[in-house]
Amino acid sequence: MSGGLVRPRMGAAELSFHQDRQAVQKDFPGPRTIAFVNPKGGAAKTTGVLAAGYTFGTVRGGGVVAWDNNETRGTLGIRGQRGDHRNTTRELLEDLGRFSDVYQARIGDLGAFVRAQGDAHFDVLASDERADVTGIIHASDFGDVHALLQRFYRVVLVDTGNNMRAENWLAAAEAADLLVVTSTVREDTGYSGLWMLDALQDAGHADLKRRTITVLSDPSPKVDRGLAEDLVSVYEQRTRSVHRVPYDAALVSGSVVPYGKLSEATRRSWLSACAAMAQAL
Ligand SMILES: Nc1ncnc2c1ncn2[C@@H]1O[C@H](COP(=O)(O)OP(=O)(O)O)[C@@H](O)[C@H]1O
Ligand SMILES: [Mg+2]
Repeated sequence: MSGGLVRPRMGAAELSFHQDRQAVQKDFPGPRTIAFVNPKGGAAKTTGVLAAGYTFGTVRGGGVVAWDNNETRGTLGIRGQRGDHRNTTRELLEDLGRFSDVYQARIGDLGAFVRAQGDAHFDVLASDERADVTGIIHASDFGDVHALLQRFYRVVLVDTGNNMRAENWLAAAEAADLLVVTSTVREDTGYSGLWMLDALQDAGHADLKRRTITVLSDPSPKVDRGLAEDLVSVYEQRTRSVHRVPYDAALVSGSVVPYGKLSEATRRSWLSACAAMAQAL
């Protein structure tokens, strides 16, 4: 109406939306690794990795990989979009030699092992999907794959399993620049995360609070408010910040995450959680 002479000021909500996007788009001085951890199954680790992959991927415009570092068959490959191949971390480990010449190896060669997530603009490296294998992933295997992913991606999101004693679990906790404790608003998952933080502290992880963020997901449309408040307050004492993400019916089925069908509230919550992650890096 004013021909551009009068610019309405941004409202508070719009401003914080832009600030969060800018934080997620931050330039890191090197590749950054975020590990999603909680030794309890069903704590929304895998869901969280995919939601963060979608958020970092779309807002940054790529450069993001989500890696399933489960010691047994993880579900990241099942819940991400399937590719044309069935290759996983196992096949990548068997073929690592093809990436050893840093001048010849190309990011496109990784396409034989990772699965592009389409409009979500990130890649998934699945964990071993063969039912007959028992081979464990050693700490050195973790280190090899991690070093390779860091050559080709700016943000590496690591999904983890439920066994804190597994070599590759410990290696991920050690290598991560940031830990994201995921939990649902339930006593059992909430306490498991706290127990894990105690164990990491006892194992000599210095600076744990500064290196950790919490994401609390609602596992049902209605949650116990008292419990949610208790969990927020105790995790606020133990980690940098606590971010709540809502229940989303699109996530319940446990099948391929329909990124395009996530609710507005889910996207907004993950944007602010990922902004806090980026700021902590
Ligand atoms: N925000 C949410 N809303 C609804 N269901 C959720 C939400 N987050 C996780 N879930 C569901 O909880 C289940 C367990 O989550 P998952 O990410 O597989 O846990 P973990 O990887 O820690 O074992 C999944 O079936 C998922 O669909
Ligand atoms: Mg999982």
